[in-house]
Amino acid sequence: MPSLPEKRILSVVLSPLEPLPPADIWLVLDLLRATTTMVTFLSLGGERLYPVETTEEAEILRKELGRETLLMGERNSFPPEGFDLGNSPRELSRELCQARPAAVMTTTNGTGAVLKAYASGKPVLAASIRNASRVVQACCNMHHVGILCAGRQGKVALDDTLGAGYLVDIFCRTFGTISLRDGARIALWSWQRQAPNLEKAVRQTDHASLLEKQGFGDDISFCCVPDATPEVPLLQEEGGKLYFAKKDRELL
Ligand code: MLT
Repeated sequence: MPSLPEKRILSVVLSPLEPLPPADIWLVLDLLRATTTMVTFLSLGGERLYPVETTEEAEILRKELGRETLLMGERNSFPPEGFDLGNSPRELSRELCQARPAAVMTTTNGTGAVLKAYASGKPVLAASIRNASRVVQACCNMHHVGILCAGRQGKVALDDTLGAGYLVDIFCRTFGTISLRDGARIALWSWQRQAPNLEKAVRQTDHASLLEKQGFGDDISFCCVPDATPEVPLLQEEGGKLYFAKKDRELL
C-alpha cells in the first residue's frame, strides 16, 4: 500500500490559457457538456473515446479507425456537418454505445483542455458531476491534484468554476486536511455560496443560458446529476493515438 502523502495540495486552473502548476494528476472538467458526454459514453458501454482538436482531424481519424467509429462533437453547440452525433450526453444510449464502442470527439473547449492536460505528461481523468465522488477517490494516492476547467474561448466559465468547486468540496470532505491553492478556493467559495442546489446555480451561467436558448436545456439537468455513474475515464495512448477508456487500475 503506497504511503499516503503527508499533506495534499489541490489546484484549480479556471481558464485553459493559464499555465498549469506542477500537479501529479489532472482532472479535466467541461461540465456543459464535453466531459459529461465522455463519462456518459463510457458508462453506457463505450470502450474508447478519442479526443481531437479539430473537425478535420476528427474526420481523418474516423476514416482511419473505420466507419463504425462514431464521429461526435460540436461547434457552437451543434454537430458539425457530417458528424453522427453532437455533444449532448442525452443523445447516447446503451444500445448505440455497445454497438459502436469507439468514438472520435471534438468540441470547442473541452477536447482542447484534455490535450493541454495531456501535455503535462501526468495522468489525465475526465471529470464531471456525474462521476464526481469516484473521480475524487481515484486521486487517493496523489499528492498534488489539479483540476483544469475547460472554460469558454479561453475565458473563465462560471459553470466550470461551480463544478470545480463542487469537486473541491468533495476532496475536502473525503481527505480532510488539504492545502487549497487560490483557484481551488475561488471555485470552492463560488460553489459554497450557491450550495446545495448546483443545477439552479449552473442555470444562471452564460453557457447554460445559451444552451437553453438553443434547445439543450435538458442537458443542463443531466449534467448536474451527482454520482450517476462510477466510471472514471483515464486518458491512454496506443500507437500514437490518445483515447479515454475506463480506468481499470489504481493510479500510483
Ligand atoms: C465545449 O467544449 O465548450 C462544450 O462542451 C461545448 C458544448 O457542448 O456546448
